[in-house]
Amino acid sequence: MLINNRLIDKDEVSLSINDRGYQFGDGIYEVIKVYEGSMFTATEHIDRLYRSADEIRLVIPYTKDVLHKMLYDLVEDNKLTSGHVYLQVTRGVAPRNHAFPTELTEPVLIAYTQSADRPVNNHRFGVSTIFVEDIRWLRCDIKSLNLLGNVLAKQQAHEAHCYEAIQHRGEIVTEGSSSNIYGIKDGVLYTHPTNNYILNGITRQVVLKCCQEIGLPVVEEAFTKEQALQMDEVFLSSTTSEITPIIKINDTVIHSGEPGIYTRKIQQAFEEKVQQLTML
Ligand code: PDD
Repeated sequence: MLINNRLIDKDEVSLSINDRGYQFGDGIYEVIKVYEGSMFTATEHIDRLYRSADEIRLVIPYTKDVLHKMLYDLVEDNKLTSGHVYLQVTRGVAPRNHAFPTELTEPVLIAYTQSADRPVNNHRFGVSTIFVEDIRWLRCDIKSLNLLGNVLAKQQAHEAHCYEAIQHRGEIVTEGSSSNIYGIKDGVLYTHPTNNYILNGITRQVVLKCCQEIGLPVVEEAFTKEQALQMDEVFLSSTTSEITPIIKINDTVIHSGEPGIYTRKIQQAFEEKVQQLTML
């Protein structure tokens, strides 16, 4: 495990109950996928981490390059082949008080790896989802440790035996509890624009590149719940779920319950990028 800039055995880790991450969720995080020992889009994840940090006025005491190297060493040290790296940075340890602690308080960085197989069955057959009202705060662009809204949405999906909750503010579909959402209608891909209502997913950025490569026009415009139900194809994306077709929303079956042709093409284009990474 990585604690600040030290690799240590996870049994030797001790964290303070006064860590602001624990007390307030005062911190930020990233999840980076590892394919055959290589981190996928690590630079983009690290850039987003620093952006999130800036937005909450937290100064990460390492350069991006140093952090990249630390994560690389962690993956090597843990001999991770398939899975992901989780990392978070909190505003540090200080007696509980909502306002920021003194400038002498050092942020606390932790990172660890988790091994996981790719969710190939979900990719092949697709998943079911439900609509859930988006009750989160208005800075969903920050990858904050405060995930209560997301947790409650995902739990509702689990209790409905669904893989993901598609969140909506009023009639407008925003994003999944831990993923971005897309709809395809008449040969055009629609997805919520990147603003404060959604996380600018790194996989989303890759999906948009894939669309360009396969010649699928993209409209970054929000769509409604009603429009979602009438899409030809719907899918979600995230670091861990990659490109996962959605075959059901509430009681409505999408595309006769089969992943659609464009979704398949995007999956293929994504797969090529993974292959390129692992061939390096
Ligand atoms: N979640 N939107 C939300 C709310 C998310 O939590 C995530 C990712 C995404 C997709 O972002 P990306 O493509 O960069 O993974 C969108 C991660 C995987 C998680 O919390 O585990």
